[in-house]
Amino acid sequence: MLNIAVRAARNAGDLIQRSSENIGQLTISKKSKNDFVSEVDRMAEQEIINIIKSFYPDHSILAEESGKIEGNEYTWIIDPLDGTTNFLHGYPQYAVSIALKNKNKIEVGVVYDPLRDELFTAEKGGGAMLNNRRIRVSKQTDLSSALIGTGFPFKYPQHLDAYLSMFKTLTPTTAGIRRAGSAALDLAYLSAGRLDGFWEIGLKEWDMAAGILLVQEAGGVATDFSFNDQYLKSGNLISGNHKMHQALYQAIEPFVTDQLK
Ligand code: IPD
Ligand code: CA
Ligand code: CA
Repeated sequence: MLNIAVRAARNAGDLIQRSSENIGQLTISKKSKNDFVSEVDRMAEQEIINIIKSFYPDHSILAEESGKIEGNEYTWIIDPLDGTTNFLHGYPQYAVSIALKNKNKIEVGVVYDPLRDELFTAEKGGGAMLNNRRIRVSKQTDLSSALIGTGFPFKYPQHLDAYLSMFKTLTPTTAGIRRAGSAALDLAYLSAGRLDGFWEIGLKEWDMAAGILLVQEAGGVATDFSFNDQYLKSGNLISGNHKMHQALYQAIEPFVTDQLK
């Protein structure tokens, strides 16, 4: 199943790269405020679904642009283009994300960056790889030396105050904070030790399912804002190696409202 996920991710990535030469001609529509979708997102998603369906016609699918296709207990969770806003601006940070969930456990995760040809893969119990080489989360233990990834809750103004309080606490106490615009790639970078920690409010399953397995298989930890494992449901995520996860949790916890738990 990992092989199929890789084939689908690479095909979608190739399609995205070919389309990146004609961004000006793309039809772009607005899903909601600040939330755009282009024909590239839709075409890449259809490519992935076609490949998966041809091998596993009975499996379920949860895809960002086309929603849920009911099938058996295996669910493929697909973000065909994570970082659409970046892509549409020619800002080179976006990826394809594909995960396979079986009865609430993520078993396979693939994040593919078509620009740099970086393929991040993980299988439950089998470790995490970047282009077939084993990767591990960083060994950073000191928050003041840590580079932390995040995303802004731009679709959730009701959480902006809580987020800004977290940001205000972490800005002077870390080595730096990055908002690169693709949560799937942020988590892939965390799994490869390029970031030491990550937090975001209001993610969707397709933004994080593959990336979380990558982090876990690279020796890292992920929880929601209540220190539990309900992140796919709540959309709120704190992740890092054991120490960084703990340090981030402690910094963020005072600002976690009831709605964010
Ligand atoms: C977005 C990216 C971004 C995150 C947003 C997501 P999209 O996904 O992952 O980093 O902050 O919450 O919606 O819309 O580009 O697939
Ligand atoms: Ca996304
Ligand atoms: Ca997307």
